[in-house]
Amino acid sequence: MQKSLKIGAYTVRYPLIQGGMGVRVSGGSLAGHVAKCGGVGVVAAAGIALNSPFFNGRNYMQADTAALKAELKKAYEIAPDGIIGVNVMVALTDYEDLVKASIEGGAKVIICGAGLPLTLPELTAHAPQVALVPIVSSVRAAHLIAKKWHKGYGRLPDAVVVEDPDTAGGHLGEKLENIGTGEYDQYATVRGVKEMFRTEFGADVPVIAAGGIWDRADVLHALEQGADGVQMASRFVATVECDAADSFKQAYLDCKKEDIGLIMSPAGLPGRAILTHQEDVVAYDQDNATVCTTNCLKKCSFKESGERFCIVMSLDRAQRGDIETGLVFCGTNAWKADRITTVQEIFDELFDAAAEKAA
Ligand SMILES: Cc1cc2nc3c(=O)[nH]c(=O)nc-3n(C[C@H](O)[C@H](O)[C@H](O)COP(=O)(O)O)c2cc1C
Repeated sequence: MQKSLKIGAYTVRYPLIQGGMGVRVSGGSLAGHVAKCGGVGVVAAAGIALNSPFFNGRNYMQADTAALKAELKKAYEIAPDGIIGVNVMVALTDYEDLVKASIEGGAKVIICGAGLPLTLPELTAHAPQVALVPIVSSVRAAHLIAKKWHKGYGRLPDAVVVEDPDTAGGHLGEKLENIGTGEYDQYATVRGVKEMFRTEFGADVPVIAAGGIWDRADVLHALEQGADGVQMASRFVATVECDAADSFKQAYLDCKKEDIGLIMSPAGLPGRAILTHQEDVVAYDQDNATVCTTNCLKKCSFKESGERFCIVMSLDRAQRGDIETGLVFCGTNAWKADRITTVQEIFDELFDAAAEKAA
């Protein structure tokens, strides 16, 4: 597969973005190794303060930006010339600070989902070389962002990720009742977004398909169906280099297809996860009478009324290895993980990277 991917000023050797995985599942190690292998490596900003040396229990926001910059540094130590980006959820309270810290830390790409990043070009105006990539699940959302950016800032996205709510992991950009109905068409949406940019703005904007992409056949299918590249997250969890604890990775190896399902997150969005211990995840905060200490999300039903559970703490417990009371986010294909591999082996399988190097 010879196809490279152009995102703004950057040419990525292989048409792959590693999906950001919050709360230190994709930290500097995973992002650095993906970038070293020729993809876009992505540090996820959400909850990065937790389990970092910068967090003392009271300084979440301050520790978030410091930890993000430290993870970017780690990633660049692994891949000094790599293309390394940051995933920042718009729903985060410190979204704007994390965008600024991404730039200070040298991120080449900023990828934003969980909300519409309508003012992102303004926040990054001092760093025009940084590529801006919104994540959407509909043509409508892509159009709204494009109109606002074009009119307000004379700029269009450098690429758009189209995330399929029927297959992707983590928080999903669709109402619970609309997920899994069979109505969503991932590649019709990819082509629709591509077409919208062509007809409305006369621009060829790269569109990246995300959700449910696991092997080489899936990548080839995505490219045949009109995507310019793929974003893959779950596939990179069961790797030596992934930043999560071994038992988090083991949960992927152990899970069965029917263990994977949907939860309603206190963020007000559905999320896809391994549901085996979901009762214990919810019970943890009730049993321990936990209250919100981080204020991590702008809107959160746990913060506001103690309803459900604390999303960031439950994800943090899982990332550290407590998969009994911790929440393990994953995409629908996570059950396909059958061994711990390396990031390089994944690139070799997906893109014949080893054969290309030898040639
Ligand atoms: C453990 C995990 C954590 C995730 N965290 C985030 C996140 O912080 N921000 C985000 O935009 N997407 C997040 N996602 C979504 C991924 O970046 C990606 O788009 C999606 O999972 C792609 O589907 P796949 O996992 O089937 O490859 C997460 C996914 C997983 C599996």
